[in-house]
Amino acid sequence: MDKNISFTLKVWRQRGPKEKGAFETYQMKDIPGDTSFLETLDILNEQLINEGKEPIVFDHDCREGICGMCSLYVNGHPHGPATGATTCQLYIRRFKDGDTITVEPWRSAGFPVIRDLMVDRNAFDKIQQAGGYVSINTGGIPDANSIAIPKPIAEEAMDAAACIGCGACVAACKNGSAMLFVSAKVSQLALLPQGKVEGARRAKAMLAKMDELGFGNCTNTRACEAECPKCVSISNIARLNREFIKAKLKD
Ligand code: SF4
Ligand code: FES
Repeated sequence: MDKNISFTLKVWRQRGPKEKGAFETYQMKDIPGDTSFLETLDILNEQLINEGKEPIVFDHDCREGICGMCSLYVNGHPHGPATGATTCQLYIRRFKDGDTITVEPWRSAGFPVIRDLMVDRNAFDKIQQAGGYVSINTGGIPDANSIAIPKPIAEEAMDAAACIGCGACVAACKNGSAMLFVSAKVSQLALLPQGKVEGARRAKAMLAKMDELGFGNCTNTRACEAECPKCVSISNIARLNREFIKAKLKD
């Protein structure tokens, strides 16, 4: 069984998008090692409510690494120090007794803070909407299944489709670029026959929206790939660039 540990939490508190924020310090005592990081914040919030104080606002939904909502910057890493895991999959056993753990929201012009640790990631929805639907008629389910797709291609498309739209790639990037996210969304469709037809147009539209919304450019630092909880590869960015060039040549 995991040991109980005591530690200090330094949490970013900010009352609203235009308010000035600051860190507040909380002491956590005897927290079992198998407590998840979000459960730790639940425990802290219960303490704060009992003391008549404002609980900490943070985003979460599935708590299973699926929804991408738990966008916390823990000890200088988006989603914390664990590799290939979201904040909700981070456990207190990763830390040592007496540690100070710093918790911040995503820091990016594209994701303004709503309150405390919650940011507005609406920009990702807008980029995805700019990509549009797969508008070719794919027919019923048996027709789609009758199109043979080589296994390596199907697997690459599935790996790209693993992106949960959490925004850790933007938070990790010194340029605040959303290229890894956009490349995953473009790749999951451009690799398959049904989505390939509109791949170039989709890449151009999504990149234009990304620029319009104030995300930065990619300078290949690979910080996004290192911090992505779904291990999305930057080889998808190369594919996105190829699709974009195709669109430009068509123009
Ligand atoms: S590419 Fe990775 S880090 Fe970026 S939004 Fe998708 S899952 Fe999150
Ligand atoms: S709460 Fe859904 S991925 Fe963490």
